[in-house]
Amino acid sequence: GIDLGKLLASTGYVTYDPGFMNTASTKSAITYIDGEAGILRYRGYPIEQLAQKSTFIEVSYLLIYGELPTPAQLDDFTNRIRRHTLLHEDLKRFFDGFPRNAHPMPVLSSAVNALSAYYQDSLDPRDPEQVELSTIRLLAKLPTIAAYSYKKSVGQPFLYPDNSLSLVENFLRMTFGFPAEPYEVDPEIAAALDMLLILHADHEQNCSTSTVRLVGSSDANLFTSVSGGINALWGPLHGGANQAVLEMLDEIKANGGDVKEFIRKVKNKEDGVKLMGFGHRVYRNFDPRAKLVKQCADTILGKIGGDDQLLDIAKQLEEAALNDEYFIERRLYPNVDFYTGVIYRAMGFPTRMFTVLFAMGRLPGWIAHWRELHSEPLKIGRPRQIYTGYTERDFIALDNR
Ligand code: ACO
Repeated sequence: GIDLGKLLASTGYVTYDPGFMNTASTKSAITYIDGEAGILRYRGYPIEQLAQKSTFIEVSYLLIYGELPTPAQLDDFTNRIRRHTLLHEDLKRFFDGFPRNAHPMPVLSSAVNALSAYYQDSLDPRDPEQVELSTIRLLAKLPTIAAYSYKKSVGQPFLYPDNSLSLVENFLRMTFGFPAEPYEVDPEIAAALDMLLILHADHEQNCSTSTVRLVGSSDANLFTSVSGGINALWGPLHGGANQAVLEMLDEIKANGGDVKEFIRKVKNKEDGVKLMGFGHRVYRNFDPRAKLVKQCADTILGKIGGDDQLLDIAKQLEEAALNDEYFIERRLYPNVDFYTGVIYRAMGFPTRMFTVLFAMGRLPGWIAHWRELHSEPLKIGRPRQIYTGYTERDFIALDNR
């Protein structure tokens, strides 16, 4: 019954742990990771089984409500999401204010934050019905917002959602389709994208999820908290890595495909060059998601075609790194982002959309964590610090400085 945190705080004792290498910020029953054994489970179910047998909608339900849905529950959940895919017409015009060359990530996070302004009847974190409504609205509207952020960047007209389609099919049509033109969804692409979204759906206390929890801990609403998570995800050390990987592969290809030379630069830390898509704070042997993504890259490029040379460079980099002392010593392995970009490009997505796809996948995880946070007495997140500045000094009048 002793609260160790409270006890230590009362003594003035502070733990210093930059980057939270060894600090658990919360208890959680959502996702289990064993970094040494390369295990990832959502609510106890192994990621390999979910990737193979489930769907993104079903996994979203599992993460948010804790159990796999019955057929009736899944039907109800899917239909509720279907009914909320439209964006408020005024919110559609919100996109007009952005420059066309804007990166879609800040457009996405701004539009998600703006949901707080357009849907004020679902903002109260303590009203379960409002929380449920904002949950469904986010799951339904994020793909629409994501597609519009792409359409805006290419100067093409927005498409209204077609609710006869599944969530992923609808997103593909709104992204790549044109008004008044039939759009045939490629089932291979839809299935592969669905699987990739499952792989990204949660990853316990990563940077963006911790951000969602921290923002939420001030009693901020779900839309605003998720918008904070999207911003955290954008950084190249986190979700932005999938864009950075493809840019790295493009650059190596443009420079003649010299993989050895690139690895040499990384090892010498020349200009701070890193092997993007490699390394993970928790996985120290392999990232189980990376294995599944690599298989998917082989299958999807085999089926729909794509830049084999990029895939080949990625494989050569992996091979070189896995046999190199620098990477072995530091226990650096491909993470989930290493092969996703090659697949997204083969699917037709521009590089700047990759992190948006990650955000679409991570959304149910963010929601699940925000709801878990609110299922217990709310405690505001407020880290301490080790002060390193001046001790007291006297103010000097402007004339005397
Ligand atoms: N390439 C080259 N060297 C690396 C890499 C890399 N990708 N990652 C880590 N290292 C080196 C570091 O330079 C450091 O070396 P040193 O001991 O000589 O100083 C050592 O390995 C330890 O790395 P840290 O950065 O201290 O590890 P940390 O756990 O803090 O960082 C991170 C993890 C951010 C993922 C890091 O590995 C990285 O920057 N990777 C590249 C970016 C990336 O792919 N991010 C996606 C992560 S997964 C995700 O968010 C979806």
